[in-house]
Amino acid sequence: MKVEPINADFAALVSDVDLGQPLTDGGIAEIEQAIDTYAVLIFRNQSLTDDQHAAFTRNFGPIDKGLLVGSKRKRRLANPDVIDLANVDLEGNVLPAANIRNVSLVANQFWHSDSSFKDPPAKYSILCGMELPDQGGQTEFADQRAAYDALSDEMKARVQDLVAEHWAYHSRDLLGGSGNSAGETEALPPVHWPMVHTIPGSRRKSLFIGIHTREISGMITAEARMLLHDLLEHATQRQFVYRHEWQANDVLMWDNQCTLHRGRAYDLTKLRELRRCTTEVAEFAAG
Ligand code: OGA
Ligand code: MN
Repeated sequence: MKVEPINADFAALVSDVDLGQPLTDGGIAEIEQAIDTYAVLIFRNQSLTDDQHAAFTRNFGPIDKGLLVGSKRKRRLANPDVIDLANVDLEGNVLPAANIRNVSLVANQFWHSDSSFKDPPAKYSILCGMELPDQGGQTEFADQRAAYDALSDEMKARVQDLVAEHWAYHSRDLLGGSGNSAGETEALPPVHWPMVHTIPGSRRKSLFIGIHTREISGMITAEARMLLHDLLEHATQRQFVYRHEWQANDVLMWDNQCTLHRGRAYDLTKLRELRRCTTEVAEFAAG
């Protein structure tokens, strides 16, 4: 396996590995070591079946099903571990732009950490790109370890012990509502996580924020939202960002504990097909 950093310590291209084949323990450890260092890994020219995608993901922990918990909706994909991010209906036809499912897909264009609204939250996400539009539709990542390191000492002290509330439907509400049933929203009550934590693998400190945060414990809503807004603005400055220009059959793997990501806008009438598998965090520690 060859690991070539894109920046000094954020995002790396990994080659000479076929993710469709079973990995040795040594191979798994190499990938874990690379992601602890670079936080985002890019694998090109992989063409994984859903079962291969899920099997590769299971090397790194139990599967997180994101918003699929509590959902009784019919699914297009047979494998229950694979999250369908394509803008298509059950037959594979591109959804009309006004289809309510586009609210959730567009919500991915806000900076976020996958499943930060769940307990446990997500650890690694593994995203396969199948069909990408010619224009737009890139995916961006922001290094929250570097963003933490670059905070002023005053701001580090201010955020050190703060706890934020994360809620799955906050981003959807900001976009006008996603038409989810009471049963779906009740299945995912808000959770509370420290805004600063230490990543077990690298021992680096990281911010843990993003669009799912909507309150800070012990603070009035207005002050909390403005602080969250200011921190997000700081944490997503271009010097912390890697922008991925997709090629079909790229696989991206990232650590949700110490990165934020977002999709970029595209013409909703054009096919964009991606599928994601995600693992759960084993322990989430303040620090
Ligand atoms: C995701 C996600 C962004 C994109 O897969 O979790 O947020 O570019 N994707 O579609
Ligand atoms: Mn996401």
